[in-house]
Amino acid sequence: MKFACGGASASEVADPRRAILTGGVSATPTFNTLTRPALAGEFVPADYFRELERAQLCRGERPLEIDLGCGDGSFLMGMAKEFPERDFLGVERLLGRVRKVCRKITRQSLGNAQVLRLDSRYVVEWLLPEATVSRLHLLCPDPWPKLRHHRRRLVQTEFLSAVRRALVPGGEFLFMTDHEEYFQWAVEKTVEFGGFERLEWNEDSFFYPKTDFQELWESEGKSMFRLRCRRPLSDA
Ligand SMILES: C[S@@+](CC[C@H](N)C(=O)[O-])C[C@H]1O[C@@H](n2cnc3c(N)ncnc32)[C@H](O)[C@@H]1O
Repeated sequence: MKFACGGASASEVADPRRAILTGGVSATPTFNTLTRPALAGEFVPADYFRELERAQLCRGERPLEIDLGCGDGSFLMGMAKEFPERDFLGVERLLGRVRKVCRKITRQSLGNAQVLRLDSRYVVEWLLPEATVSRLHLLCPDPWPKLRHHRRRLVQTEFLSAVRRALVPGGEFLFMTDHEEYFQWAVEKTVEFGGFERLEWNEDSFFYPKTDFQELWESEGKSMFRLRCRRPLSDA
């Protein structure tokens, strides 16, 4: 993705948000929005460096659900079809996958699903407005199994704090992985963070379409580990 900030001051260039977007690479952004035409079904913020407003993400009081790292979008499509009264946003950094999801959204005429091509951490920590999201799904994320790569895992204290802020009181964070060690890590991080209540989540607790990677891992005989947390209702 190409960003730019025409005539950016030194303080803007040092902005930590830009570091996340450029992956720490010293590319100097020059525009605040996309430089290619948006795809049908794609959500493009008017300004990537400004927090979004709820009305930009969903319609009226409709519940908003976000699928981070939505991949090819099977889960997103399944949910959007099942719950036409809710709005859905997938977040995915690979353009090829974003294109696939956009094609599915268009082919199935789903007016309640969109996809945003961006880094999940950036979206949660910098773009989502407070108390907006009903459910935030992080399903089969990259586990970064090597010790020296653990810092790349999405589930970190700052991320959890931003998730909690983005959720409505009573809103839920759902994390699922085949990787037991990442699951234990996520449990420990949420306990350490302390801002959530843990809820029970079994495979048949509620309607939950299988994701593409879940299908793949299960076909190889792997089990899924599930963590479901809620922003306390007492925050209301
Ligand atoms: C293992 S796949 C899982 C895809 C989907 N959730 C599923 O379960 O089928 C992880 C997906 O997250 C995307 N991804 C990884 N890190 C990301 C990040 N920081 N921001 C956005 N997408 C990311 C990858 O491109 C990939 O599509």
